[in-house]
Amino acid sequence: MLIAGNWKMFKGPHETRAFLAGFRPPDDVDVVICPPYVSLAAAVDAGVTVYAQNAHWERDGAYTGEVSAAMLAELGVRGSIIGHSERRQHFCETDETVRLRAEAVLDAGLGVIACLGETEGEREAGATEEVLRRQVAVLPEHERLVIAYEPVWAIGTGRTASPQQAQEAHALIKSLHAAQVLYGGSVKPDNAAELLAQPDVDGALVGGASLDPTSFLAICFAAR
Ligand code: 13P
Repeated sequence: MLIAGNWKMFKGPHETRAFLAGFRPPDDVDVVICPPYVSLAAAVDAGVTVYAQNAHWERDGAYTGEVSAAMLAELGVRGSIIGHSERRQHFCETDETVRLRAEAVLDAGLGVIACLGETEGEREAGATEEVLRRQVAVLPEHERLVIAYEPVWAIGTGRTASPQQAQEAHALIKSLHAAQVLYGGSVKPDNAAELLAQPDVDGALVGGASLDPTSFLAICFAAR
């Protein structure tokens, strides 16, 4: 089981150190923290496994505002989230840039959590399978790449996919790709165990509930 906390644009270095000072997840669950860039070093220093939230495909160059996988590796960061729906929605991320970023992170020797999932409109139009097939198709198969199924309508809304909806999507993704598949979208301490009990749910990518150490630890323990 892998439980990753995506902190999004929350927690500078000071809050990161405070969160991790007393953070003791169970030994038998893989736990990853994904803080903003400026807090990566503080998280690495605290001794947890740290992923970034994005990485550029070039090693270096004239790409103002971007950070390369090689730079993350130098810092002791072990991987990166790629293709989060917030990047796709607000920052013009496409399936093609997701592919480029994922390949670069793997080439740098790091791990990838590649995010995908349908919007509410796509689900209502009956296009979920077509969208997932298209998004999975660009992802390389690699032992260090895991997929996170995050239905966009469930992110930050409190509207979790039902365990059956998650299981159905995960089974489809696994029929197309050999990766482990995490579920993301309003995972909370009170729904984590049931979601994680589904046969094709291999872990969780947690947003809001990862910002509080008590609720994030409760989810980590639910994964045992
Ligand atoms: P929430 O858990 O806040 O819905 O966010 C999910 C997510 O986007 C994780 O990447």
